[in-house]
Amino acid sequence: METVLSGIRPTGNLHLGNYFGAVKSFVKLQDEYKCFFFIADWHSLTTHPKPADIQQSVRTILAEYLACGIDPEKAAIYVQSDVPEVLELYLYLNMNAYLGELQRVTTFKEKARKQPDNINAGLLTYPTLMAADIIIHRADKVPVGKDQEQNMEMARRFARRFNQMYEVDFFPEPASFAYSDKAVKVPGLDGSGKMGKSEGNAIYLVDDATTIRKKVMKAVTDAGPTLPNSEKPEPVANLFTLLEIVSPKSTYDYFNEQYNNCSIRYGDLKKQLAEDIIAFNTPIRERILSYSSDLPYMERVARMGAEKARESASKTLNEVRHIIGFRSC
Ligand code: TRP
Repeated sequence: METVLSGIRPTGNLHLGNYFGAVKSFVKLQDEYKCFFFIADWHSLTTHPKPADIQQSVRTILAEYLACGIDPEKAAIYVQSDVPEVLELYLYLNMNAYLGELQRVTTFKEKARKQPDNINAGLLTYPTLMAADIIIHRADKVPVGKDQEQNMEMARRFARRFNQMYEVDFFPEPASFAYSDKAVKVPGLDGSGKMGKSEGNAIYLVDDATTIRKKVMKAVTDAGPTLPNSEKPEPVANLFTLLEIVSPKSTYDYFNEQYNNCSIRYGDLKKQLAEDIIAFNTPIRERILSYSSDLPYMERVARMGAEKARESASKTLNEVRHIIGFRSC
């Protein structure tokens, strides 16, 4: 069976864009592949978070993954820092990762520009750590968005380089699972672009009804169509895309018809959209709250995941040590 792996940096709550863009597909993947889903807390250190914040944000993602239906019996859900084997592989890979190629990675250049006082070695070797995360399980497929494509190329390059250097055919080259082409792109509420945390246009899975109503009612629209069957400008098209995602088809058709005959009232559309989002969110939100208040259960899940991940990781690492010329342990 092929292995699928995905990592997420713990940087806040999941929003509808995360859900429909990725997490929903993880729930399917766990039935079809051997899956590893982990929380990349080491990667988050590049920006020097406070200790209490790390713990809180790791718990948040864990509770939200579980609430979305990722099943700890089917997939290994674990926290990166619970699997020390990754670090040893990171060290080996770093010996064959070159300054020039690491400096050329776009995400490094961007981060270096954004945080000129904190261009640390961890930031530079972010792609090596990511490669170690992936190839420690000899993963075949990694579902990632376009922004991670260059990191994936680096992971393939490091895997290939290891194989060539030691004349082995040990690490598979991990393929990017281009689910993002098929997955729904969830737009934000601010009139343009996709939903994102940093864009400030997101509806979070944990948002309550009042918050959702407020956010949706404030969504950007326009003065309304003046000619029948006119094309929808982006802010309005975005609201229709959201309807398509969370509402029954009949609701979408109803408002589409009204748009086409120029009788639409955006206030009505927004009210309905808000209620449909609330209906979608409510059960997930309830599960998030219940998991979040059951720390012993979450601790058990993390331990179980770490156990599965360490078993797979130590198997790989033993072989790697042997290949490199160290004693296996
Ligand atoms: N770099 C990824 C991101 O920022 C997170 C990540 C870390 C990851 N390690 C990974 C993703 C391994 C996939 C596989 O989104």
